[in-house]
Amino acid sequence: MTKMIEVNRVRKSFKDVDVLEDISFSVAEGEKVALLGPGGSGKSTILKIILGIIEADAGSVNLCGTDMVGVSADERQKTLRNVGMAFQQGALFDYMTVAENLTFAMEHMTSKTPKQMEDKITSLLEGVKLGKTKNMLPHELSGGMKRRVGIARALATDPKVAIFDEPTSGLDPVTSTIILNMIDALIDGDKGKTSLLCTTNVEIGIRYADRVILVNEGIVAADGPWRDLLLDGPEWVRNFLSVRLIGLDQDYAVELDLPQKFIDAHW
Ligand SMILES: Nc1ncnc2c1ncn2[C@@H]1O[C@H](COP(=O)(O)OP(=O)(O)OP(=O)(O)O)[C@@H](O)[C@H]1O
Ligand SMILES: [Mg+2]
Repeated sequence: MTKMIEVNRVRKSFKDVDVLEDISFSVAEGEKVALLGPGGSGKSTILKIILGIIEADAGSVNLCGTDMVGVSADERQKTLRNVGMAFQQGALFDYMTVAENLTFAMEHMTSKTPKQMEDKITSLLEGVKLGKTKNMLPHELSGGMKRRVGIARALATDPKVAIFDEPTSGLDPVTSTIILNMIDALIDGDKGKTSLLCTTNVEIGIRYADRVILVNEGIVAADGPWRDLLLDGPEWVRNFLSVRLIGLDQDYAVELDLPQKFIDAHW
């Protein structure tokens, strides 16, 4: 199977803080993966290293077949055309309308005609239930709306790989569910698309993907199907995953399809 993201023995320190000590994982074409870990564990740093926004101190990253370490600016730009990233902070251009933000991405990353861009904007904004916001500026939108525009922008370029950094953090549960369902609908409608969703929120992570990669204290603490890790992972992993889940309503736990053994033990 083709690997779209390969992170191999990556290390990264900021000043004297070792954030990433030894990170390795890969994501195959068409795979949907959640990258989980406590706040400050280095999830966003991993994503920025994958995109070549920051440089690793050691190790290698391969993105869509391109070795991103020591890559030329041109080659990197070309590779990034295959990737859509929704940043944790939204990162919309404040002085551009919603439609202009999406157009800007498409003009730089694709060869779509103006008509194709317009159609894409219409269908994506309708997909994220923001059909009426085309001509609005980011400051006129709520936090959740801005997040949805960031997601639409990440997907506007029809990327092979879509990366979402904390798409729901700081949002209420209802808005979070709307956003997650929206991402799901957009990703599942395109079977070949590879995606990585990064979050501290275990519930969001396990709703998004069967496979989770759990980062803690600079290393990959676990990587596999979350149901297996929840029941049989190392103690820290079981605790990290279960803390958030055991507080849930029992009907909801059933809806999430938590393992029966876990439900029997906690409700
Ligand atoms: N450019 C930087 N300069 C200095 N330290 C940084 C920089 N970027 C990240 N860090 C540090 O690296 C650590 C990991 O940060 P990072 O943002 O990757 O974590 P995270 O897992 O994404 O956290 P959160 O869940 O809160 O988003 C933090 O201690 C942070 O202060
Ligand atoms: Mg982060």
